[in-house]
Amino acid sequence: MGATNLRIAAVVLGTIGLYTVVCNAIPQVESEVPREMNLSGDVTPEQLVSAGEELFNGAGGCTACHGLGTRAPNLLTDEHGQGTIGARCGTRKPGMTCKDYLHESLVKPTAYVVPGYQPIMPDMSRTLSPAQIWALVAFLESQGGEVTVSAADVKAAAPAPAQGVAPAAPARSATTDPVALLRENTCLTCHHLGSEGTTIAPPLDHIGATRTADYIRRSILDPNADTAKGYEKVAGIMPKDFGERLSAAQLEALVRYLASRK
Ligand code: HEC
Ligand code: HEC
Repeated sequence: MGATNLRIAAVVLGTIGLYTVVCNAIPQVESEVPREMNLSGDVTPEQLVSAGEELFNGAGGCTACHGLGTRAPNLLTDEHGQGTIGARCGTRKPGMTCKDYLHESLVKPTAYVVPGYQPIMPDMSRTLSPAQIWALVAFLESQGGEVTVSAADVKAAAPAPAQGVAPAAPARSATTDPVALLRENTCLTCHHLGSEGTTIAPPLDHIGATRTADYIRRSILDPNADTAKGYEKVAGIMPKDFGERLSAAQLEALVRYLASRK
């Protein structure tokens, strides 16, 4: 009897062991965008931090601006003697905790614009789930501060399934193919590229020859910032909400592509 039980126990343990090996063998990319399921329930602060770190360096698109030059504040390194983001987040807005400030920075980036920077950061709730945003907050807190995000925040943020609430972000394409983006976003109803489009607006065929990537990015995010010579009459017709419609990765793909059209 005892021997049988032992054999069963051995088989069970062996099976669990095998599954563990198989799960660990699944490539890292699988977890690049952590599923909602993995983050809800009994998620630990450590798991949130590591999910946030992956998002920050990968699918979240943060490094397109943060950590490269002077376009956005340093988060993981010191910023003008104010420390890393986890150390300075509690001092930004009087009376606002670090956690609340970081959350607001991600879902309402224009509520507080760090002095010296342009308000170009996209509202991350359009591309990331509430749980993913909390994971990012936990990761940012861990950079020099105390992690106060917990499973309770993630649970409170999850939409009540019983009410069948639709996801916050409208369904839209996730493509980063620049030509597909130009078509999808109606750019070619005004601009010309290759054999497509119209000449209502400046042609984009060789725009990289005279415009820098920064200029192009600003033109897309804030069309009124500069007016192309000869187009004064039509200035103001370009939609001003591309910053909200495009994900950070899509915006950068477009900018890179256009800047390379010499
Ligand atoms: C298109 C560029 C861009 C992208 C992409 C971007 N940011 Fe930002 N971010 C900025 C700029 C510029 C600022 C400073 C101006 C402001 O406060 O809005 C900023 C400010 C912040 C702040 C406040 C910093 C402080 O010192 O108070 C945090 C936190 C932050 N971003 C986190 C993120 C995270 C996390 C991501 C990715 C999910 C991200 N950002 C993606 C441009 C960007
Ligand atoms: C409804 C018409 C319209 C749409 C749609 C439109 N634009 Fe524009 N765009 C203009 C006009 C007009 C100008 C020139 C006037 C100005 O600079 O504000 C312009 C200017 C620009 C410039 C600066 C050109 C220069 O040489 O100074 C860029 C870059 C640009 N648009 C890119 C885009 C992209 C990318 C899209 C799609 C995501 C887009 N536009 C959608 C009308 C439009």
